[in-house]
Amino acid sequence: MKKILCAAQIGCGKFANSQDLPNLTAHPLVKLKYVCDTHIDNARAAAEKYNVPCAVSDYMQIIEDPEVDFIKIATSHEVHLPIIEAAARAGKHVFCEKPMAMYDEEAHKIIRAVRQGGIKICIDLNRRMSPAMQALKKEYLAHAADPQHNPWQYVETVREPLAEENLPHLNIRIQDESSSYGLAHLSPLSGGGEIIGESVHWLDLACWLFDDQLPCEITAWGSSRLSHGIYLKFNRGASMTLDFSCSGTFDYPKEQFELTHNAALFRSLHFVENCSYGFPKAGKSYFPLQSDPFPQLGEGIDGYMAKYMAGVKNSTNSKELESAAPLTVDKGHRAMLDAFVNCILNDTPSPCDEMAGFRSTFLARLAIESIRRRQTMPVQIEDITPVFPLKRH
Ligand SMILES: NC(=O)c1ccc[n+]([C@@H]2O[C@H](COP(=O)([O-])OP(=O)(O)OC[C@H]3O[C@@H](n4cnc5c(N)ncnc54)[C@H](O)[C@@H]3O)[C@@H](O)[C@H]2O)c1
Repeated sequence: MKKILCAAQIGCGKFANSQDLPNLTAHPLVKLKYVCDTHIDNARAAAEKYNVPCAVSDYMQIIEDPEVDFIKIATSHEVHLPIIEAAARAGKHVFCEKPMAMYDEEAHKIIRAVRQGGIKICIDLNRRMSPAMQALKKEYLAHAADPQHNPWQYVETVREPLAEENLPHLNIRIQDESSSYGLAHLSPLSGGGEIIGESVHWLDLACWLFDDQLPCEITAWGSSRLSHGIYLKFNRGASMTLDFSCSGTFDYPKEQFELTHNAALFRSLHFVENCSYGFPKAGKSYFPLQSDPFPQLGEGIDGYMAKYMAGVKNSTNSKELESAAPLTVDKGHRAMLDAFVNCILNDTPSPCDEMAGFRSTFLARLAIESIRRRQTMPVQIEDITPVFPLKRH
């Protein structure tokens, strides 16, 4: 059995340069042989910076190379299907950026290709792999299994708890700065806007947290391209509310999560600090940054803010900011890559497989439909759990 996997990066844009290329070249069990981009200058620049032997503009050169074990896709979304179909036919495993697809039918075809090719696929819905979210889920499940309350908790004695009183609810607040969005991500042909491009993350996170339930209803409002809200209900009562505003600022962290359940609150601030409340073992924990140029400036959300200000204070324009030492919180990208490499080497299930990729695409499309129709959309069980022939054809 192989011990080192030969990999190829397809798409060498912003994301590849910030995560894929550094992470793939640093991974001890991966050898990056190719970088590919239709804009060959992007591929050549990546090859030079990361010392990668082959820079190409046509991904078929990679697909035809028998040495390559897996590809990493970080292109715009509309080319995922043809690349994955070609890779699957050649028996190459695929690590694909979110969203897996822009439309349900594309997602169905990807599932078929993956199953027919007998390959493994991992969709980079990475939030679920972040140390902060892993810790939050663990603490929530421990409380759900054995709820303990503080002795001072106020409880109304004249009534029994109501049936819907102790259901879990996840609240996600995103404040983003839309001036950073590239047109490729907003175009209906290659990006599809923020629900399909970004909110697949939060839809996946809710499905992963409440993985003992199935989504049954979705309501969305606002704009599918920019700011929007989503309410997702699960069949055994869990729910998620997303409030996504793109009129915010990068000067404050983007992501905040609050899960409430059975008189307890589990909060995660921007992947650097978790705090819980309402039960005897509740407390606070800090999570190290993925890259931290100012470790001396402390931990948690206050430490992050101090580091951010230290990083930006001498920048007089955004180009200078881009070239400053990166301050990156740990959103789970490295853990996802690591888990995918291990799943190939040990033939174990993917950490985020084609069904998770399909589900988040499907829910995002339904949310967009809900906005268009201004109505709540039912999530039909046969739609959210599609079946496909298991055998190869
Ligand atoms: N998981 C995350 O947290 C996260 C964060 C940011 C971006 N992303 C994803 O990363 C992907 C890329 O985003 P980006 O911001 O880097 O975009 P980008 O436009 O900067 O880069 C995309 C690159 O892909 C290249 N490309 C397009 N079609 C190609 C093809 N057929 N073959 C080879 N190269 C091709 C383009 O030339 C471009 O250089 C998107 O799918 C986005 O959703 C994920």
